[in-house]
Amino acid sequence: MEYQDLLELARDRRSCRRFRDDPVPTEVIDKILDIARYSPSAANSQPWEFVVVEDFTMKRAISKEIVSVYKEAKERDTTFNFKAAVQSQLFRAPVLIVVCGDRRLMQAYPTLLRGRELLRQSLAICAYSIQLAAASFGLATAWATVHWGPPETAVKRLLAIPESFTVDHIIPLGYPDVTKEKRTRALTQVRERAPFRRELREVVHHRGYDITKYRSDK
Ligand SMILES: Cc1cc2nc3c(=O)[nH]c(=O)nc-3n(C[C@H](O)[C@H](O)[C@H](O)COP(=O)(O)O)c2cc1C
Repeated sequence: MEYQDLLELARDRRSCRRFRDDPVPTEVIDKILDIARYSPSAANSQPWEFVVVEDFTMKRAISKEIVSVYKEAKERDTTFNFKAAVQSQLFRAPVLIVVCGDRRLMQAYPTLLRGRELLRQSLAICAYSIQLAAASFGLATAWATVHWGPPETAVKRLLAIPESFTVDHIIPLGYPDVTKEKRTRALTQVRERAPFRRELREVVHHRGYDITKYRSDK
């Protein structure tokens, strides 16, 4: 693979929050997860396992549970645009990939290190691998954070996931519904407000931190 191919893959992968119904072939899902399992992980612990959910009733139940936390969050933070989050749209994606992390693997890391963080960092890299692999098939993904407490417990109960696992995020997978994305004002506002990416020169420092580039609080 050439650098340009990788650049385009990384640049063109964008979160999608509105999906078409078209099913994703099982072989493609398998190929995506095959790439995910090659992700690097702390102490090569490979703490991930994946539950693939395609059943509509189950997707809807999961969606309902993980969105429940937003009601309370909305009261606490009135400025955040919760409509823009993928959580409420999750059940519309043809496939949900529930990324599970086995917390027992935290013991693979020396106790002085931050076992919990290392586990979660490993899972996050794995989720990104899923996103990139999906993008290579022209498929769209998003990232739905599953909050601790009742939402995570409910997802685990619905999918019979053993107690030792954590469920930090769910990746919806499907073909993007571009017209619906365009029509959704909440998403347009998010895209307009947040710059696509900070410039390379803003984020790279040579020979030490260049304080003139320090990001303003604003
Ligand atoms: C750790 C993490 C958690 C995220 N959680 C959510 C989420 O709960 N809901 C959501 O809609 N998007 C979520 N996102 C997606 C980000 O909002 C998105 O990646 C970011 O705005 C950049 O946009 P892009 O993915 O289109 O490049 C999350 C991304 C990451 C890496």
